[in-house]
Amino acid sequence: MSDLASLEQRGLSELAACADEAALRAWITKFFGKQGEVALALRKVGEIAAAERRAYGQEANRIKEKLQAAHDEAQARAKASALEASLREQGIDVTLPGRPVARGRLHVATQVLRDIQAIFADLGFQVYQSREVEDDLTNFELLNMSPHHPARDMWDTFHTTTPGVLLRTHTSPGQIHVMRELCPEPIRVILPGMCYRYEAITTRSEIMFHQVEGLAIGEHVSMADLKGTIIAFAQRMFGAERKVRIRSSYFPFTEPSIEVDMDCIVCKGQGCSLCKRSGWLEIMGAGMVHPAVLKNGGYDPARFSGFAFGMGPQRITMLKYAIDDIRQFWANDLRFLAQF
Ligand code: DAH
Repeated sequence: MSDLASLEQRGLSELAACADEAALRAWITKFFGKQGEVALALRKVGEIAAAERRAYGQEANRIKEKLQAAHDEAQARAKASALEASLREQGIDVTLPGRPVARGRLHVATQVLRDIQAIFADLGFQVYQSREVEDDLTNFELLNMSPHHPARDMWDTFHTTTPGVLLRTHTSPGQIHVMRELCPEPIRVILPGMCYRYEAITTRSEIMFHQVEGLAIGEHVSMADLKGTIIAFAQRMFGAERKVRIRSSYFPFTEPSIEVDMDCIVCKGQGCSLCKRSGWLEIMGAGMVHPAVLKNGGYDPARFSGFAFGMGPQRITMLKYAIDDIRQFWANDLRFLAQF
């Protein structure tokens, strides 16, 4: 019995001396391990004289439970104080304001593409996506440029290692895809997308750039429809007072072909550095769809007619925001991009 009393005493005092969870783990091994003191004390029951055995056993069990309970309590306290200490050391101040998240934005090219799409949507044009990797047939031949046609020189081309497969030099081949898909229905679409040209990169020309192609086909589509559409676009994009001028031009896939200028947005036609003193800014090429192209798209030129146009939205953006270097668009310089 006196051994038990001393076990209880030592157990409690050594527990009180445990400063942290590691010490508590050592304590539990010492007292509650397989060869621990509590187990040894319990095993002794057999050696005790029969008359005292019951009392001894009861006392041993009481001490076992008491030590176990005292340990559990000490462990809970140690855990709580460890948590408190770590909170204190790591010093989280939940009242501090959070770090602001840097907000992204749409690239100016995307913004302008969307503006253009919205304007043409108002005019009843749907957006049609066409592939960027094209074949020679669709990029040139079906647009009325046979293999050695001199007009091909206007489009310096990135060819791939697969003969006849190239990166489209303009969005015009999309006209063929739309026509073949929708024929004989009337068509009113724009085709926005990236084009590629094997050219020297300068302040005015990039090897990759967007174009927006337009195509309208129906039974009585005329040059007047083309003019009206272009004027509506220019006025919505650049201001209701814009004037548009049309010059005769040449493209293999249109007949007649025109080039469209708009009065300068800076000097309003008086002449300044933006318009190189001419008072006019070139905004697109256009024309009436060539009968051969209509035929290649499946439309009978005796019954159907159409107009088409093509513009470079980067050029348009440069005019709109007075950007003097087209290379800025893909340079990924945040100082440029953050201005829009
Ligand atoms: N595809 C021409 C180019 O890249 C632009 C163009 C001109 C498109 C006249 C047209 C058009 O649809 O009718 O230079």
